[in-house]
Amino acid sequence: MTKKKLFVKSFGCQMNVYDSTRMIDTLVGVGYEESQSEHSADLIILNTCHIREKASEKIFSELGKLRVYKEGRHKEGLQTRIAVAGCVAQAEGGQIIKREKSVDLVIGPQNYHRLPDLLNRLDSETALVDTEFPAEEKFDFLPYPTEEKTRSRGISAFVTIQEGCDKFCAFCVVPYTRGAENSRPVEKIIEEIKNLAQSGVCELTLLGQNVNAYSGPNRVDQSVSLAGLIQLISEIPGIKRIRYMTSHPNDMQADLIAAHANQKALMPFLHLPVQSGSDHILAAMNRKHTAQDYLDLIKTIRTSNPDIALSSDFIVGFPGETEADFEATLELIRQVRFASSYYFKYSPRIGTPSADLTDQISETVMQSRFTRLQDLVEAQRREFNHSMKGKILEVLVEKKGKYEGQIMGKSPYMQPVHVRASDELIGQLIKVEITDISTNSLFGNIVDQAVL
Ligand code: 5AD
Ligand code: SF4
Repeated sequence: MTKKKLFVKSFGCQMNVYDSTRMIDTLVGVGYEESQSEHSADLIILNTCHIREKASEKIFSELGKLRVYKEGRHKEGLQTRIAVAGCVAQAEGGQIIKREKSVDLVIGPQNYHRLPDLLNRLDSETALVDTEFPAEEKFDFLPYPTEEKTRSRGISAFVTIQEGCDKFCAFCVVPYTRGAENSRPVEKIIEEIKNLAQSGVCELTLLGQNVNAYSGPNRVDQSVSLAGLIQLISEIPGIKRIRYMTSHPNDMQADLIAAHANQKALMPFLHLPVQSGSDHILAAMNRKHTAQDYLDLIKTIRTSNPDIALSSDFIVGFPGETEADFEATLELIRQVRFASSYYFKYSPRIGTPSADLTDQISETVMQSRFTRLQDLVEAQRREFNHSMKGKILEVLVEKKGKYEGQIMGKSPYMQPVHVRASDELIGQLIKVEITDISTNSLFGNIVDQAVL
């Protein structure tokens, strides 16, 4: 019997990328075959993002195109199932099917283990919505990938260790779409990572909406912190690099800061969003820290490890943001000097406290502030990249490069590095002297080969 073809398209954050792989592994286990495009797919899953309005609207334009695809196949006598997963599914539920009739299934992020069952039920039911927060833990039911599958995904993998958020920043939908903070048990994470490591994975990014608030139970029900978990992961044979994201400044505990100085496998790159540099705006955002608290924290982190590079998220045009508030954000950026950052125009999200604020900022002001912030952040990114010239960096080789005889790896700071060398080095750490810098990449020569 020919296998049904499955195409999963991910939008938004890395947790969705990870969830998509878990959905694929689940459905491959019940007879589906993964496809790299929607072309001739029997089942299409959109794994969606609800964080900003643009992200949500993209899904409906995507669904419009899929309707045409589904109708075309229907005329040829072929059946196509369309599922909407992720945060738009969680937030909008059955409304999605009302708006877009071609959707067969709406499934929230906590219910992916029920996918095979829900798909079977579609044989007798027209459209299904499952956005409950079930009592059972989905990860207990999702199968691991086969060794072949893991190898095809490369040497770097994501692993979700924590989901949900209790912070309730005034602008953010995550506490509503992903629910309360929940840390996975230590043993389950270690088991999953051992499985990945045996199939050639050597770099891990530990994911969580509030990952540094991780506090998972161990075998004897004691709570283990993120630093404790990183220590245990670093002892797994084959694991060379560990990263984590995304963190909240208020959860940056002393043991984690110390790990950035003492733990060799933990990379010296920290994504620590501050959102704004104005105390007035930070309070309105319910961030529960001041700009000075953030600057003090950065000082402590840099005292512990002077080589650490930092990145942040910024929101421009939060309701009530004055020119002075915005200037305070630019000043914070000047003081910290980030290696890179993400920046967004404020987008009111229904159901969040700040959506109801009356002093919304006009698009013209928002755009002008966005451009000014972008100029500053991008200048800092260039400056950081250029500071690499002449340095010798440890590069983890990921894959063949674009050109024959070239390989591509990542620096400790996530920068792509291109080197002329054999692809036999994939999965190894090599030392590279950086000779050239382009907009987004570094180029260099192998100095020494070091397998750690
Ligand atoms: N508008 C704009 N940006 C937002 N973010 C979260 N919610 C909103 C919103 N309503 C940004 C924050 C967060 C990142 C993931 O997305 O900067 O850190
Ligand atoms: Fe959203 Fe992050 Fe704030 Fe949680 S800490 S509410 S995920 S912005």
